Amino acid sequence: MIRRGFQPALVAGWLLFGAASALGAAATGRYFYPNVSTDPPAAFKAGFPSDFEVGKLDARFKRRFGAYLVRIEEGSYALCDSCTWCGGSLNWDESRGLFVCS
Ligand code: FES
Repeated sequence: MIRRGFQPALVAGWLLFGAASALGAAATGRYFYPNVSTDPPAAFKAGFPSDFEVGKLDARFKRRFGAYLVRIEEGSYALCDSCTWCGGSLNWDESRGLFVCS
């Protein structure tokens, strides 16, 4: 290769390398986002506090959002219906006062 042709070839090589690296980085970033997510939304409108009985676990959002709502005197909180051990769905047993595996 003659000296005058070396520098443009070097620049073109670095440009190709940079473009390939950018494409690789973009493909790696895309890899971390799933194509489909079946998780229920993490936030939803549950209604007004007066819609819930104080001290009682409410299961009306279990099927659609996978959540139980509980209203207490100080406020309210939500519980996820997924087992933290194996990921199975948990059901509330009112008579025994505990969650049971399905
Ligand atoms: S132990 Fe996880 S659902 Fe029963």
